[in-house]
Amino acid sequence: PRLHQVQHPILLDRITRLRDRTTDQRLFVHLLEEAAFVLAVEATRDLALQPVPVVTPLEEAQGPILADSIALVPILRAGLGMLRPFRALLPQAAVSFVGALREEETLEPSIYLDRITPITRDTCVFLLDPMLATGGTAAAVLTLLRKRGASRLRLVCCLASPEGIRQVHETHPDAVIYAGAIDRQIDRHGFILPGLGDAGDRQFG
Ligand code: PRP
Repeated sequence: PRLHQVQHPILLDRITRLRDRTTDQRLFVHLLEEAAFVLAVEATRDLALQPVPVVTPLEEAQGPILADSIALVPILRAGLGMLRPFRALLPQAAVSFVGALREEETLEPSIYLDRITPITRDTCVFLLDPMLATGGTAAAVLTLLRKRGASRLRLVCCLASPEGIRQVHETHPDAVIYAGAIDRQIDRHGFILPGLGDAGDRQFG
């Protein structure tokens, strides 16, 4: 499917605590990492394996190791908070950085940083951003990644709006979305409702 709503109880617990307005910066950063860890486990379920020989203390054997080439792409700023748990599980992944900011009035995304290392067609690319609101940012970054050669694209977010999911599906029909929760709607300022506020401000002030 093109949309996975990840239902793990630990993730759902962390998302509720992230929503809480009394959660301070230090706790918010911590909870986001824990939420992203569960998302990373779920979004990597179908990665390919290849068998390799392994010598145990007792005998020679064979075992599977990850075969896919992997790239991680956090969208600055807020996506940076998801990078550490993904790297903990996928230390071999290449990491590219994209900075994107929404214009306050038009909500149009503008990309102010593009540090994308070469990506091959068979690389499994994980785009990291806690929030999928209008979907403008994700769509623009997916377009950019595709221009750089990416074709296996996964967007991993904590919260998604129905509008954002629709926008990504319309502009990038083959991209797969992993979301921790799908919220009711976005308001006219582009905030997800009920949401958790601004994930960039809550992490970085
Ligand atoms: C937020 C969020 C997404 C984007 C989502 O970033 O982290 O990148 O908005 O909105 P969209 O789906 O309507 O495009 P923001 O622009 O606030 O920047 P920041 O991460 O630096 O705070």
